[in-house]
Amino acid sequence: MSELSQLVEQARQAFAQAKHPAELEDAKALFLGKSGRITELMKGLSSLSVEEKKTQGAAINETKRAVEGLLQDARQAMADAALAKQLAAEALDVTMPGRRRSTGGLHPVSLTLERIESIFGSMGFDVADGPEIETDWFNFTALNTPADHPARSMHDTFYVEGGQQDAPNLLRTHTSPMQIRHAVQHVKRYQTDIEAGKGMPEIRVIAPGRTYRVDSDATHSPMFHQCEGLWIGENVSFKDLRNVFTRFCQTFFENDDLVLRFRPSFFPFTEPSAEIDIQFPSGPLAGRWLEVAGSGQVHPNVVRNMGLDPERYIGFAFGMGPDRLTMLRYDIGDLRLFFDGDLRFLQQFN
Ligand code: PHE
Repeated sequence: MSELSQLVEQARQAFAQAKHPAELEDAKALFLGKSGRITELMKGLSSLSVEEKKTQGAAINETKRAVEGLLQDARQAMADAALAKQLAAEALDVTMPGRRRSTGGLHPVSLTLERIESIFGSMGFDVADGPEIETDWFNFTALNTPADHPARSMHDTFYVEGGQQDAPNLLRTHTSPMQIRHAVQHVKRYQTDIEAGKGMPEIRVIAPGRTYRVDSDATHSPMFHQCEGLWIGENVSFKDLRNVFTRFCQTFFENDDLVLRFRPSFFPFTEPSAEIDIQFPSGPLAGRWLEVAGSGQVHPNVVRNMGLDPERYIGFAFGMGPDRLTMLRYDIGDLRLFFDGDLRFLQQFN
C-alpha cells in the first residue's frame, strides 16, 4: 500500500475511534491541521521539480479530499447517532392507554352526617359547626362539670397548649360545648327582645363534628364523631324530644316499626338524663336494645350559663354517635374500618 493510501486508512481509523465531537476534531487536526500530516506533505512539495510537483501535488490533493470526505462522514454519523439517542430518550408511545381519573365517593360516616343533617333540617333544626380545640370552660365547666367532678375522668382526652394553667385547652371530648356556644350567640342576637320580656325564637340546632377521647378498640377510636342536638323554648317537653328523636331514627333506618327506649342515666349537664336505645323489629339485629344516644333536660345551671332564665326556658339535648349509626345501618362490626383508608371497604358505599 502506498504511503498516501496508508494515510487515508489511518485517518479512517482515527475518525472511527473518536467517541465524541471534540475527539473527532482532535483527530482532524492530526491530518488536516496547520501542522497536520497532509499539510506537512504539501509543504514538502516546494523542494520538488515542476514535473514531480504536478503528480505528487495531484496525489496529495486527492488524499486530502479523501480524508475530508471521511471526516465529513464521521461528523454526520456522530450527529445522526446523537439525534437518534435523543429521539429514543424523548420517545412518546402514543399507543399507550391513558390513565383513567377515578371518581371518588363520600365516606360512609360523611353519608351518615349528611343524612342526619337533612332529616333534622326537615324538622326545623339548624346545623352549627364549632371548634375541635376547646377551652376547659366550654367542654366541662359551663356544662356543670367543675374541675373536681368525677365525670371528667370518663372523658380523658388530649390536652393542648394554651388556656389557663389550671384550665388548659383540650381536644373536645364531646359536641356538647356547642350547646353553650350556640345558645350564647342566639341569646345575644335576641338580647333586646329577651330583656323586654318578648322572649326569643326557639333554639333548634344540631352540631355534628369530630370529638376525641383516650380510647381505642373495635368499638372505640381516639377520634370519633358525635352529633349534638339542642332544643330550647318556653314550651318544650320530654315528649317532644321523644317524638322528634323517634321520627329521626325511623327515617334514618327507613323503618317505621323501629321502637325506642329511654333508659334513665346520668350526665352532669342534663337532669333528668336518659340513654336512648333502639330496637329493630326484624333483621340481623332484631330484638336487641342498641344504645344510640345520650339525652336529657338541660340542667338549670347550664341554662343559666347560656344567659337564659331557667324558670322561663326549658331545654332538651341529645348527643348521638354517627359512627355507631353507620355501623348499625350497614351492619359493620369493627369501627376501625372507617379510619384505615382501605379502598376495598370504602368503595362499597359509592
Ligand atoms: N355529651 C354526652 C356524651 O358525650 C352525650 C349527651 C349529649 C348527653 C347531650 C346528654 C345530652 O356522653
